[in-house]
Amino acid sequence: MDATGQWWRDAVFYQVYPRSFADSDGDGVGDLPGVVERLPHLRDLGVDALWLSPFYPSPMADAGYDVADPRGVDPLFGTLADFDRLVDRAHALGLRVVIDIVPNHTSHEHAWFRAALASPPGSCERSRYLFRDGRGADGGEPPNDWTSQFGGPAWTRVREADGSPGQWYLHLYAPEQPDLNWRNLEVRSEYLSILRHWLDRGVDGFRIDVAHGLLKAVGLPDAGTVPQGWEGRMHHRLPYWDQPEVHDVYRGWRRVLDEYGGQRIAVAEAWVPHPDRLAAYTRPDELHQAFNFPYLMAGWDAGRIRAVVDASLDAAHRVGAPPTWVLANHDVPRAPTRLGGLDRALAALLLELALPGSVYLYQGEELGLEEVVDLPDDVRQDPVFLRSGGTLRGRDGCRVPLPWSADGASMGFSPNGRAWLPQPAGWRALTAEAQVRDPASTLSLYRRALRLRREHPALGGDGVLTWLQSPEGTLAFERAPGFVCFANLTDAPVTVPPIGALLEASAPVDAAPDGGHVLPGHTTSWWSVGG
Ligand code: GLC
Repeated sequence: MDATGQWWRDAVFYQVYPRSFADSDGDGVGDLPGVVERLPHLRDLGVDALWLSPFYPSPMADAGYDVADPRGVDPLFGTLADFDRLVDRAHALGLRVVIDIVPNHTSHEHAWFRAALASPPGSCERSRYLFRDGRGADGGEPPNDWTSQFGGPAWTRVREADGSPGQWYLHLYAPEQPDLNWRNLEVRSEYLSILRHWLDRGVDGFRIDVAHGLLKAVGLPDAGTVPQGWEGRMHHRLPYWDQPEVHDVYRGWRRVLDEYGGQRIAVAEAWVPHPDRLAAYTRPDELHQAFNFPYLMAGWDAGRIRAVVDASLDAAHRVGAPPTWVLANHDVPRAPTRLGGLDRALAALLLELALPGSVYLYQGEELGLEEVVDLPDDVRQDPVFLRSGGTLRGRDGCRVPLPWSADGASMGFSPNGRAWLPQPAGWRALTAEAQVRDPASTLSLYRRALRLRREHPALGGDGVLTWLQSPEGTLAFERAPGFVCFANLTDAPVTVPPIGALLEASAPVDAAPDGGHVLPGHTTSWWSVGG
């Protein structure tokens, strides 16, 4: 808890992706009772809160991000009673619970979308979504040039009640995920009621899926040529992302969150490339936090990381919000693979844990799991893979069920030994059970680092850091009182001058003859200085 008494300002969140965390009933898919059983793992790891990815009733066209009933629990994951038990148990262990909410779209099986299909063009039922007539003489062309994030056009044509080819509806993701019309007041009030439903059940907050996408530019104009890549889009505005009116929605949500006691929060999943645009989501009357994707995208490069850290701290402090740091989630390749090695991922971890603000971890990173790159095509389930005809590998490789212990064929994931995606044989050496006994393991490093982050007076909080001079390819900063973080992002060892007492390092640090230390390549170290 930071000095302001606001638990979330420097909290460490742990993302639980329920289908891959722990399976209690043996169907090969993780579930809520499985999460309950494994909550002690999170308490012992030393995180403050968990964020649960969607568990709602869903046809699972996008692993549950296609929600058919936003107030329930899919039988695959358990029951509402299981959910209540999870919240109670987590709270009893001192863990807060944040849940995903998916407001940009529903499932095509949501009662509203079924009603829209059964109703004529121009009806109230259709106006909850974005139905439009097509272009061209017979309306046979999509209404505009927008493309789906999962490939192909962002529009699908429906058949009207009389069987004739009809209107088109917008889906920025899969066709099974029709976009809602956030200019419709009924949509707005429905989501306020959904927030209350879960707040009343005791959740501590929400992670808002595609938070930057809810409002589309009036008239749905063509997007034109979309710049390639993340940086290319830095200064480009697309008519479906990050529209100014989206902020009114979150002002309304904030008022609801503030009505409840106990500091309920919301964090935006907003893929906007610049920290300034991200900070707009965390102005004092809006959301509490936003995921720092510019940091995740910075790679393992000292100059780029320093620039993103500075821009993030500046932007966050200007609006009075805590910065956040994130290296992994269920949508991106796991950090050891993305950054080019476990040594780099662990160095990146100690770096982010030393920064002011809040940190988001993704399940399995505490075990040092790599991306599974060789999943057979016939087990892959991500719509990105399926809709691109296999040209894009998709996100299944970071969603492989966790290895818990030596038990059975699925390494303790499921009592029947099945797992919905096959686990690599090499993970037998990486089970939580094996690592907990080994002080040199990744899990032990995570536990020690998280404990130090809680206990050291300079860590936590969301205040300032002071950069120190350091050689090319390294980063060094100080936080008061008495803490220095020194990271070597190069391949070669660097000799650091005597700094103080070593608190922790992501790889063994040797003494140098002059009282200094030798920091191996791709290593971050924490030091206690002064006093
Ligand atoms: C978010 C989720 C991702 C999902 C998409 C559509 O980006 O993190 O998993 O596919 O939204 O809901």
